[in-house]
Amino acid sequence: MSVVAVVGGQWGDEGKGKVIDLLAERADFVIRSQGGDNAGHTVVNPMGEFALHLVPCGVFNPDSTCIIAPGVALNPAILLEEMDRLEQHGVSTRRLLLSDRTQVVMPYHLLLDRAFENHRADDPIGTTLRGIGPAYADKAARVGLRLGDLRNAATWEAKVQTAVERANRLLVAFGSGQRCDADEVVHDYRRHAERLQPMICDTAPVVAAAVARNAAILLEGAQGTLLDLDHGNYPYVTASSCTVAGLLQGAGIPPRAFSRAIGVYKAYSTRVGSGPLPTELLDATGDYIRERAHEFGATTGRARRVGWFDSVVSRYTIALNGFDAAALMRIDMLDELDSVKLCTAYELDGERLDLPPSNLDLHSRCKPVYEELPGWRESTRGATRFEDLPPAAISFVQRVEALLAVPVHLIGLGPERSEGIVRQPLWPSPTS
Ligand code: IMO
Ligand code: MG
Repeated sequence: MSVVAVVGGQWGDEGKGKVIDLLAERADFVIRSQGGDNAGHTVVNPMGEFALHLVPCGVFNPDSTCIIAPGVALNPAILLEEMDRLEQHGVSTRRLLLSDRTQVVMPYHLLLDRAFENHRADDPIGTTLRGIGPAYADKAARVGLRLGDLRNAATWEAKVQTAVERANRLLVAFGSGQRCDADEVVHDYRRHAERLQPMICDTAPVVAAAVARNAAILLEGAQGTLLDLDHGNYPYVTASSCTVAGLLQGAGIPPRAFSRAIGVYKAYSTRVGSGPLPTELLDATGDYIRERAHEFGATTGRARRVGWFDSVVSRYTIALNGFDAAALMRIDMLDELDSVKLCTAYELDGERLDLPPSNLDLHSRCKPVYEELPGWRESTRGATRFEDLPPAAISFVQRVEALLAVPVHLIGLGPERSEGIVRQPLWPSPTS
């Protein structure tokens, strides 16, 4: 059928989990292809409420195969915990495949994440401390361990010894008091390996066959485009590529097979961790939205920074990803406001900017130019047709749509799978 990617258009936490859960109902394959358990995808569906960090959101569809692809950094302990929790809630994880090319997050990566953050002292990235950055750094340094290594008991121990020794040297150099114990790691990971063994395989032929037979393949993006290693607000970014192109690369899907890119945007902005957020609300409105929308991290519990919708950065992430459609999430969180603001441009030293500057110092100095729209002061929950929304909410969506120059196919109005307005089918029609 088609390859569809769901990608975050802002700084993560846009509501990708809900969009993916909805699309996964018709997916033959759901693939996680970048990031690790730094992601936290909240899904509320007839099976319950879940915060998934590693298991693809397709796990709720018994007919879809879930794949963790080579581009992911996988912490086995977290994956197993997550699988146990799902099974306890009656969700089968039987159809989960793990690529033997996937990088393994090791205990020393978590220690290094903390040591590197401490070393940055007053300029931390604000990472999730899940070891993701150090794991990708090892991958690029070609000293990472892969799931395939874990399967080979004969060589695993020696590889761990070498890797732990290297990591401990780094911990010393970065002033950390913590050390990793190789024997403990060997022992713990041997146990993990026993359980993971049946799921680990070369997923390349599986993906190639799925592409060849035109299966419905869903690529589950984690993080968001402004956290992308190349294109985001470097250095306040994550260590993987969170764009459509990054997802294709991490999954090993040829760009020619690609059909549709869906960009997920929240009706306002949030950011966890450091870095520019020009529309940030440091006032009562910001506190109000944070509380009402419960904007606290699904992975770390940290309070998220909140701001108005920013069409300057959105224009940038649309151009980078070539989104065919957008999902505009959590509009209901603005239901009670007297008025709602949209940032249409930035002003920098008297100049008007339509795109964010690449230079972070300049980016941080940008002043948002706002357009103020009347609020609708009415609940939008339960609406299933666009025309049933309050007129002011319709105007808000239409204005966002005009600013993005991308059609909004899905409007999110609540956490449940069924809550929201699907204006256009999310999967492309078989003929397109
Ligand atoms: P989902 O998939 C929001 C942020 C961290 C930090 C930066 C680097 O739920 O949208 P890292 O631990 O990745 O090295 O931290 O990236 N970050 C996220 N923010 N949502 C996420 O994932 C994130 N994953 C990482 O807060 O600023
Ligand atoms: Mg999240």
